[in-house]
Amino acid sequence: MEVRKLHPIFAAELIGPDLAQEPDQALIDLVEELMRDHVVLCIRGQGHITDEQHLRFARAFGPLELPGVFRPDEPRRMAYGLYDASNLDINGEIVDRESLRAKFAKGNEIFHADSSFNDMPSKWSMLRGVIVPPEGGDTQFVDLRHVYDELPPAMKDRIEPLVAEHSFAASRIKGGASPEAAARIREIMPGAMQPMVRISPSGRKCLFVGSHAFRVEGLSEAEGTALIDELIAFASQDKYVYSHKWRQGDLLIWDNRCALHRGTEFDYARYKRDLRRANVNEFGEERSAISAPLRAISER
Ligand code: OGA
Ligand code: MN
Repeated sequence: MEVRKLHPIFAAELIGPDLAQEPDQALIDLVEELMRDHVVLCIRGQGHITDEQHLRFARAFGPLELPGVFRPDEPRRMAYGLYDASNLDINGEIVDRESLRAKFAKGNEIFHADSSFNDMPSKWSMLRGVIVPPEGGDTQFVDLRHVYDELPPAMKDRIEPLVAEHSFAASRIKGGASPEAAARIREIMPGAMQPMVRISPSGRKCLFVGSHAFRVEGLSEAEGTALIDELIAFASQDKYVYSHKWRQGDLLIWDNRCALHRGTEFDYARYKRDLRRANVNEFGEERSAISAPLRAISER
């Protein structure tokens, strides 16, 4: 096994594991330790693994957060349990840039922590590069422990007691979704309250915001939005950002409790980009964050 740093502040790559094999305890312990230290970890060379092997590896670290479904019997391009983060339709063809799917994906291009809008104890995302574009479409990250350390002391004091409301609808509006679509999302995904300062698994304090955050308890709407925007802008400074250039077969893992990530643009109409994501929680039942079929969003 070989570990190399990918950025001066955080993020590492691990070369050596074969995730087609059932992970043993030594590998599980190593990945937990590397994630605690580096927050983002890329396991290279997994182009040969199946969806089921991807899911098996994810389940070694916690119960899956299952994706929502449109219909119980819907045809899928990938195994149930994986989130489809691609630009492809069921037949593997590139979807229309103007489709709801594509517009929703646009919302991923603002820094966020996956699933911060639900009250399940989100842990990691594990995104697998099945087809990657030859240029563009990097995924970018920041380490919120480091960002917290760098905040001015007055800002640390200000946010220490604050709690923000996170909602999927809020980030989709920022990405360009209509108010009607957002209202329908809110019906099935009510949102969650999250402290703005958390303790990361390493024991270090970290900032906790992102594009799903939209309101701060005890502040006016304008004040809350301004504070959230200021913190995200601070966290987004180039010097803090690791930009992951995808290689086919990468399994990229990040800790949603102490890292933000975002997608970046690529030539959407020209290149296929097939990324598949497993999400795990710290504990609890294996279940979806969505209380009703996604049909409620797409068909009304
Ligand atoms: C995600 C995500 C960004 C990307 O899958 O959660 O935000 O680069 N993806 O596709
Ligand atoms: Mn995401």
